Amino acid sequence: MFSRKKRLKKKSKALTEDETVVKKANNQENPLGHLIAFQSFSRNGLEVQFKCCKVSQLDQATIDWSFDLLKRNMKQMYEDSAWGWNEKEKLLEMTEDSAWYLVAFTKEGNPIAFSHFRFDMDYGFPVLYCYELQLEMECRKKGLGRFMLQILELMAFTANLKKVVLTVFVHNFNAVGFFKNLGYSVDETSPENTLEEQFDYEILSKCRKSTTKN
Ligand SMILES: CC(C)(COP(=O)(O)OP(=O)(O)OC[C@H]1O[C@@H](n2cnc3c(N)ncnc32)[C@H](O)[C@@H]1OP(=O)(O)O)[C@@H](O)C(=O)NCCC(=O)NCCS
Repeated sequence: MFSRKKRLKKKSKALTEDETVVKKANNQENPLGHLIAFQSFSRNGLEVQFKCCKVSQLDQATIDWSFDLLKRNMKQMYEDSAWGWNEKEKLLEMTEDSAWYLVAFTKEGNPIAFSHFRFDMDYGFPVLYCYELQLEMECRKKGLGRFMLQILELMAFTANLKKVVLTVFVHNFNAVGFFKNLGYSVDETSPENTLEEQFDYEILSKCRKSTTKN
């Protein structure tokens, strides 16, 4: 028998149902493993294979390419925002143990697009948080971004997570248009602009069909 103190201690360590869902999602070997039809993409002149794994299972060359692509695509956007561009911080974020990657490789084995995402609790909800979705210039506007976002949604919802969440700069007009076109809307956790404070980013999300945001 536990003493009351011990029992209380044990109780506080117990995971909630939602935290258990997140833990289970993170314990998967390959979240894409059971989504056979989504392991490759062949359309509009693109032929790619996807790899989905934790950052610890990515080779250094792919990590270096991911960071380089992010820098080429986003550095200016960060510099134009209140956050600024902090290379060290960004690299740290991209290589933290909890980071998952979905990477698109050509037949020749070259990476051309990636998403950095996490299974996490966010404001009390179990979510898939999409930190990055980055495509090389030459493979954009061919449906690959939509397909990769669909994969993230499938991985989230088959793992019983409640929503897919992402942060986007409001001055990234192309990305805002892309996400909204694909059914993403402003999340309840997105900061509200006031006369005193204006934000240059917004948080967008898409909920699992059977659940609501509230
Ligand atoms: C944003 C990005 C991921 C989009 O990927 P993509 O492969 O070019 O987009 P897709 O070809 O899959 O487009 C999917 C759909 O969104 C639509 N779409 C794309 N951009 C759009 C825009 N600016 N406004 C409205 N709709 C848009 C497409 O028309 C398409 O719809 P359709 O299938 O009904 O025609 C890609 O452009 C990219 O990597 N940009 C640079 C990095 C970036 O900004 N990432 C987002 C950071 S948060």
